[in-house]
Amino acid sequence: MPIPTPHITAKKGDFAKTVLMPGDPLRAKFIAENYLDNAVLVNNVRGVNGYTGYYKGKRVSVMASGMGQPSIGIYSYELFNFYDVDSIIRIGSCGSLDKDLHIRDIVIAQGACTNGNYINQYSLPGTFAPIADFNLIKKAAEECEKKKVNYKIGNILSSDMFYDESNSTLQWAKMGVLGVEMEAAALYCNALRAGKKALCICTVSDSLVNQEKETTALERQNSFTNMIEIALEVII
Ligand code: HPA
Repeated sequence: MPIPTPHITAKKGDFAKTVLMPGDPLRAKFIAENYLDNAVLVNNVRGVNGYTGYYKGKRVSVMASGMGQPSIGIYSYELFNFYDVDSIIRIGSCGSLDKDLHIRDIVIAQGACTNGNYINQYSLPGTFAPIADFNLIKKAAEECEKKKVNYKIGNILSSDMFYDESNSTLQWAKMGVLGVEMEAAALYCNALRAGKKALCICTVSDSLVNQEKETTALERQNSFTNMIEIALEVII
């Protein structure tokens, strides 16, 4: 596939080897403006902001994924396969399925279960387990320890439904699945298929199993910045 691709107009070499990937383009902009030195905009197709700059001297890119497995599937596929990106770290939010995981806590997604269709393209003769890169998991855990944040490592669910009439999400909690989001499984599949590395780190934004009060915008911002700092330290 020649570059630019249908969804990314960046030139060869515009992306760093590691890309931080929030869902929201405005968060990508926030990270570029507040954490990266000399950040330049390398993509803006459909408003999906991609930037490349430096964090503590290390070249790093940040680009949004949009929402859902089809969206992160496109962007991560193009970055891994056409832009020579080696690692993508998704930083997102999840709903907690675990009584001990509260709003603002962190989930490191060791594996990503899914009710989606993305995974079926590989026609595997069984059930595939999309997993994160072990070294990225290990580094993220070390950063969580340093920051003294409450975190857990384990399975999450990448659901195709945010609004789910079947109410099936809680079934996954019975299998020890920690939280629900909408992107990690496709990201992990793309990384594994391409022989590359991926990790998804989420802050808990709501709980499906505990009654918890809404967070303020400032609290959400603070837990988001904690997660950005963890992900950036994982990269360097
Ligand atoms: N479902 C799916 N994705 C999410 C949720 C949820 O409850 N919370 C945050 N991301």
